[in-house]
Amino acid sequence: MGLALGAGLAMVGCEGQDDSSQAEAMLGKAEVAPPAAQAQPVAPVLAAVATGEARKEFNPRLLRRFKPAREVIPGDKDTEMPARIALGRMLYHETRISRDQQVSCNSCHSLERYGVDGKKTSTGFEGKTGGRNAPTVFHAAGHFEQFWDGRAADVEAQALGPILNPIEMAAPSAEFVVKTLRDMPGYVSAFKAAFPAEKDPLTFPNVGRAIGSFERQLTTRARWDDYLEGKATALTDKEVEGLKLFTNLGCMVCHTGEYLGGSMYEKAGTVEPWPNQVDQGRYTITQRDGDRMMFKVPGLRNIAETAPYFHDGSVGTLEEAVATMGKHQLGLDLAREEVESIVAWLHSLTGKLPAQYVTPPELPKAVASDAPRTPVSG
Ligand code: HEC
Ligand code: HEC
Repeated sequence: MGLALGAGLAMVGCEGQDDSSQAEAMLGKAEVAPPAAQAQPVAPVLAAVATGEARKEFNPRLLRRFKPAREVIPGDKDTEMPARIALGRMLYHETRISRDQQVSCNSCHSLERYGVDGKKTSTGFEGKTGGRNAPTVFHAAGHFEQFWDGRAADVEAQALGPILNPIEMAAPSAEFVVKTLRDMPGYVSAFKAAFPAEKDPLTFPNVGRAIGSFERQLTTRARWDDYLEGKATALTDKEVEGLKLFTNLGCMVCHTGEYLGGSMYEKAGTVEPWPNQVDQGRYTITQRDGDRMMFKVPGLRNIAETAPYFHDGSVGTLEEAVATMGKHQLGLDLAREEVESIVAWLHSLTGKLPAQYVTPPELPKAVASDAPRTPVSG
């Protein structure tokens, strides 16, 4: 347990930063680091930032580390074809490609509920539960890698996992999925329209590509974006106070950029060991000691709507999640008012759901039950 807790800290090269804005100096370094950098050397610097003047001054230049949300998250060329997005949207809601015809992506990533299921850990095929909390699909397409442990490169690749996962949609094979879809003429024509250059477009990888195209549209725009674009009145004083704490205490070293996360792995428990060490995160994939307890830093857009929190869904409220972060990532005992201000600001990251994508589409009819019966002549 916690074998490698010192490892991340041991790499730290904390060259004396006498600059008044240590946070910014630190962030400058983070920017040149490779995006998938392991064990970012952050903790001691952050602890230093947390003492000093950090709680008092707000440096507006730090705002440059964030970005307003784009409406569409770009992918390869052709991901923007309306026919491909429309197909992906149908597949996203398609339960008939699951083993018991009951489970779709939307079962665990309900678009009406900001892309989550609200459960500690998800329930899939035959009510089986996995060990992890379902992250939101909103803005996920923009993350540098997918899953809590980064085991899929992008949303197109990611989408194929749950379809075959025995505790999620549990489809017996890729062939089963393709055959199920091929039996519905509505899908045959939808795949042709979505992949016009391909001779045989109804393939399993194309299922992933279409779902990925759809997921690239799943974005929300919040008051926070107005603020970043210069509308100072978009946030209340209390929210600005929360933002100040978030930047100055060092939360933003990990939760940065357009999604306030989704751009690096970090250890859960950088300063204080994480309470639950059962799931060792990225270590499960790489078997490298340095990857113990490393998880993708989650994005924070719409965070007020996506409880419960953390990879194991162990924390039910945003207040407790923020306090936990203060303690375990920064070694800080945040005062109640500080937690409240940060939570107030986090609410400004809640965007408006895109109505045109949230409503389920009409799905192709199954031929067997809906085809007009052959009239018995005579
Ligand atoms: C049974 C519930 C369940 C179903 C069904 C399901 N997911 Fe997930 N999804 C999860 C869980 C749990 C995770 C986190 C797993 C992990 O990180 O190991 C996840 C992770 C993801 C992620 C990664 C997000 C991120 O921030 O890293 C995306 C994207 C995603 N799912 C999309 C989909 C799509 C598309 C489908 C349908 C093809 C789908 N999911 C079906 C539960 C589900
Ligand atoms: C050293 C990097 C780091 C710092 C600093 C940090 N976080 Fe985190 N944050 C993470 C990681 C990693 C996770 C995922 C942990 C897990 O699920 O096990 C996380 C998770 C969260 C979550 C839950 C997200 C979800 O979808 O479940 C919230 C909320 C959060 N952080 C807010 C904050 C706040 C507020 C601060 C500052 C007080 C902060 N973080 C500081 C790395 C960091």
